[in-house]
Amino acid sequence: MTESRRKILITSALPYANGPIHLGHLVEYIQTDIWARFQRARGHEAIYVCADDAHGTPIMLKARAEGIEPEALIARVRTEHEADFAEFLVGFDHYHSTHSEENRYCATFIYKALKAGGHIAVRTIQQAYDPEAGLFLPDRFIKGTCPKCGATDQYGDSCEACGATYSPMDLQDAVSAISGARPVPRDSEHYFFQLADFETFLRDWTGSGRLQSAIRNKLNEWFEAGLADWDISRDAPYFGFEIPDAPGKFFYVWLDAPVGYMASFKAYAEQEGLDFDAWWGAGSETEMYHFIGKDIAYFHTLFWPAMLHGAGFRTPTAVFCHGFLTVNGQKMSKSRGTFIRARDFLDHLNPEALRYYFAAKLGAGVDDIDLSLDDFVQRVNSDLVGKVVNIASRCAGFLTKRFDGALSPRLPRPELHQQFVVAGDTIARYYEGREYSQAMRQIMALADQANQYIDEARPWVLAKDPERADEVQATCTQGLDLFRILIIYLAPVLPRLAAQAGRFLNREDLAWAAREEPLIGGTIRPYEALMTRIEPAAVTALLEASRESLAPTDAGPAGMAPTGAGAADAAPPGAAPGSGTSADAATAGTSAGAQEPVMDPIAETIDYETFARLDLRVARIAAAEYVEGADKLLRLTLDLGGEQRQVFAGIRSAYAPEDLAGRLTVMVANLAPRKMRFGVSEGMVLAAGPGGKDIFLLAPDDGALPGMRVK
Ligand code: MSP
Ligand code: ZN
Repeated sequence: MTESRRKILITSALPYANGPIHLGHLVEYIQTDIWARFQRARGHEAIYVCADDAHGTPIMLKARAEGIEPEALIARVRTEHEADFAEFLVGFDHYHSTHSEENRYCATFIYKALKAGGHIAVRTIQQAYDPEAGLFLPDRFIKGTCPKCGATDQYGDSCEACGATYSPMDLQDAVSAISGARPVPRDSEHYFFQLADFETFLRDWTGSGRLQSAIRNKLNEWFEAGLADWDISRDAPYFGFEIPDAPGKFFYVWLDAPVGYMASFKAYAEQEGLDFDAWWGAGSETEMYHFIGKDIAYFHTLFWPAMLHGAGFRTPTAVFCHGFLTVNGQKMSKSRGTFIRARDFLDHLNPEALRYYFAAKLGAGVDDIDLSLDDFVQRVNSDLVGKVVNIASRCAGFLTKRFDGALSPRLPRPELHQQFVVAGDTIARYYEGREYSQAMRQIMALADQANQYIDEARPWVLAKDPERADEVQATCTQGLDLFRILIIYLAPVLPRLAAQAGRFLNREDLAWAAREEPLIGGTIRPYEALMTRIEPAAVTALLEASRESLAPTDAGPAGMAPTGAGAADAAPPGAAPGSGTSADAATAGTSAGAQEPVMDPIAETIDYETFARLDLRVARIAAAEYVEGADKLLRLTLDLGGEQRQVFAGIRSAYAPEDLAGRLTVMVANLAPRKMRFGVSEGMVLAAGPGGKDIFLLAPDDGALPGMRVK
């Protein structure tokens, strides 16, 4: 029965180093991490590596906009990314950066090998150049009028109104999104990777069970359309690696990005003394899997295997694509607060709850997955708290109080234990095949069965009869034995909870095989709550915080609905549609997102008592000032007639500080202070209006005095 020990290299796509990790990204990192942990639990050698994707025009421009060097930007973002991943329990064996010596070495090596093999061509092409900014413009940095349908404000590569695709040169009234200048055509020499040289290899590679059927179908379309040369160079100024023997030419970010997998592994191998060639050499017998989103399949199923093959390396065993995350059935939206950053989630909710919810929704296909927030609360509370953790809390008390934590030396229903053990084979198959939702369903069915066993054995009734103490102990021992098996099955998804449960049971080995050994004899430690219910209010607070914390400079488009091959050169920082409402004054719905509906649907009702708890007061604006680094916020010093408060309000688009000093307004005075990016906000001012210039601060009648109650 025992499988031999597999050697498995696992990767997730490298997040761009110009924006924060958000819940969409986490679908992927959590999916991958669960798989890696599962493989390790099964006794295999699974190495999980990743890195920040640090090169390209958007990162260069974002650093410029912040007035810092790109190196400083990517260092800061990397620290943030790594902290977010760690707190979501994404356990990389190594996290690297594409802006590293290992990556320069590997990318250069591969390029030289491809060149030596005759797969690199050099041609002069004409491109749109921004004469003011002094750089060639990626398609997404050009805006103008669609040549087909006349829609204005369209990107340089395609029209969102009519769907036409075109060259940026054909766009009418084109302007650079960087400087506003009119782009001019300019010639430049570019380097191309001749993908068509690898057509036979690729048709064979992609046909041999490495891809999901939806992706294979897509590939067949691409083969039919013909494999075009791939432009792998960019002109200076560019943040990346200079191409050997080509001064002023740089590798396009997407050339060295997948090489980052190799570079990250290389750094890890050097640290751990692993044999690099045994993993990456052409004849390698190890397995290698890339987890990616469906938007970047082209890079991973065509360019990347062709590059590896052409340079004499092994190719991936398989590429696993997943779909996109929607929140409450819709694309993540900044103004609805559903563009949720990892950090904001961590500030309000338990990361393992999200891991479980994603697991409960994920299958092996490329369908999008929806985070319905109501369903999330309900599911986590009913499955994890109501079913799984409940088993432990039901059984532990009796054992601790009456038996000093001692477990029974026998299981009253050994066949039940056996049945749970056997179910592990099916569950393992589901994990292996990335059918996590099926695995979770099986596990919850077992949890139901365990609870039913306890219901029927009724230890609380037996406990009344001193003669039946043994039975109480045996029943509770059996309950905990079943609980422990469930914990082993859930450990890839809930590693922290599982470790805590292991300590409680004094059985810290959570390997898959360890489930067979019954939990008998020995003692347990006193039970401490393993997980608590999610309060819906925490979700509401999260959405509010998400809406607020989107200061526009951080609201860059990285990872936000990438559009295929152009993702790396996606819209310039800060230019994402609807990029943000940050109004701390949003009580009355001051949404500033131009493309979002002005009127949000009326939210759920609150009862009168809740309303009555709002302490609304007249406040005098003692001072108002700009907040450095926030172009939506003003910092207000509010005088409540004896007490001063600092409040950050997202009203800068409508008011200059000098308009405000001395005026009266209305504030919520008993709002709990909240830490925002720029300081603590101690209340909220009331305003109404659609946003932009039209935000109207509530002003009380003449004669009001600071500190006066409003209702
Ligand atoms: N830097 C490239 C990947 C290079 S890999 C050699 C990139 N970065 S990204 O930050 O935009 O996305 C990283 C991963 O997160 C991608 O696999 C992408 O598909 C995934 N996701 C980004 N937004 C997502 C959702 N909203 N939903 C699910 N996955 C998403 O692409
Ligand atoms: Zn059009």
